[in-house]
Amino acid sequence: MEINKIPSHVGIIMDGNGRWATLRGKNRSYGHKKGSDNVDRIVSQAFDAGVKTLSLYAFSSENWSRPKEEVDELMRLLEKYFKKFIGKVLKNNVRLFVMGDLTALSDKLQKIIEDGMRASKDNVAHVLNIGVNYGGRQEIVNAVNKLIKSGREVTEKSISENLYTYEFGEPDLIIRTGGECRLSNFMLYQGAYSELYFTDVLWPDFDEKEFDKALENYSGRVRRFGKV
Ligand code: FPP
Repeated sequence: MEINKIPSHVGIIMDGNGRWATLRGKNRSYGHKKGSDNVDRIVSQAFDAGVKTLSLYAFSSENWSRPKEEVDELMRLLEKYFKKFIGKVLKNNVRLFVMGDLTALSDKLQKIIEDGMRASKDNVAHVLNIGVNYGGRQEIVNAVNKLIKSGREVTEKSISENLYTYEFGEPDLIIRTGGECRLSNFMLYQGAYSELYFTDVLWPDFDEKEFDKALENYSGRVRRFGKV
């Protein structure tokens, strides 16, 4: 199979860090560190391939119930990643966007995220959209509440316009690594017509070749959007 169709917007549920580490006799935080290292590799690969927007699920609104040590490590990795982003990816004309309820994050992390989003807001080549304390249902509820407050009619279009990612369009392809075949509250509204690709490969092992396999698979899909 060849890659003859590049999805404009790709979402990734990066699952399997914990199992990757356990298989190697290490703690789960080690898996998240390796998973975090893998983010750069796949961001470069996706943008080089011509993907315009990449949406990554880094921390769900349900992940707070993990052991404190693991949550702390994930927060630390996010801080490190966003700090580095400001210096590096910015140069490549990439816009950073973080979707989710940021108010629950530490002041320090909120500030780093705000700085990154502000500094990159005029970048137009690509969008790196990262879900942090993100939940798809909550996003829909928030959108509807905003509409009710403003007195606007609730329609498919008006809900869509009030989602975090309205300006970035809907994912053409959603990839989930780590073997589970579910969406786990990721981009529920936007994903109504997304093509889904599930692989058993654990996120730290999901390399350029695996990403290409997902693109090859997507190239063979016929998208009908409910029509014939
Ligand atoms: C799922 O693996 C992964 C997460 C909950 C976090 C994803 C986070 C990263 C890849 C690192 C930080 C992100 C960025 C953008 C720097 P899991 O722990 O559920 O794995 P398991 O299913 O094997 O237990």
